Amino acid sequence: MKSALSSCAGPAARNVYWHAGGVADEARAHQFGHAPLTLWLTGLSGAGKSTLAYALEKRLYETCQRCAVLDGDNLRHHLNHDLGFTEADRTENLRRAAEVARLMNDVGLIVVTAFISPLRADREMAREIIGADRFVEVHVCTALDVCEARDPKGLYARARGGQIPQFTGVSSPYEAPAAPSLRLDTGAMPLQAATAALHAHLSAWLDTRQPETVR
Ligand code: ADX
Repeated sequence: MKSALSSCAGPAARNVYWHAGGVADEARAHQFGHAPLTLWLTGLSGAGKSTLAYALEKRLYETCQRCAVLDGDNLRHHLNHDLGFTEADRTENLRRAAEVARLMNDVGLIVVTAFISPLRADREMAREIIGADRFVEVHVCTALDVCEARDPKGLYARARGGQIPQFTGVSSPYEAPAAPSLRLDTGAMPLQAATAALHAHLSAWLDTRQPETVR
């Protein structure tokens, strides 16, 4: 935890100072019964990220574990409504999302994110912002042809027709993670099984971070 008067060169130069709260991370974890972390789901549009994230949230809610979902489409309705899909805008979208995830982790929540987050560098930025010890990368690796066949919002059809520029997987790149913590192919397993696998992965991680060992 930063000290009450700590600051760094940048903010101090603008006369702003960090104000630390009085509730320790360990105390929050003890109260909630689990450590905080961010499960960062990455994958193509239509891969099943949001569906999985909200299915997991429901399970965690039922067992009184504190969870929040950050979803790309939803954040783009409000917080990130000013951003498009250029590389620079996607980076800013993910920077803000990672900062929100970090704040949520800081108050003890489990965060599940659902962003395409197509570039490795942007996912590394998110890992840095959130902290490597709280960041778990999950690749929802459903193949492009499966996502395109699903096309739940009709976006692939419009992108192929040239109506949506810079569409991930069609006219904009997706860089798959080289070594994600978990891979889930929702084209090869039903939603329930994929949710169970994600839940099991989270539970195993939480088991290694019992409240008394939280930083
Ligand atoms: S990210 O690339 O910046 O991580 P994000 O996850 O927030 O993307 O938003 C992706 C969602 O925006 C998609 O699921 C889709 O519904 C919508 N969308 C609209 N235009 C595009 C586009 N050009 N590329 C990808 N997704 C798009």
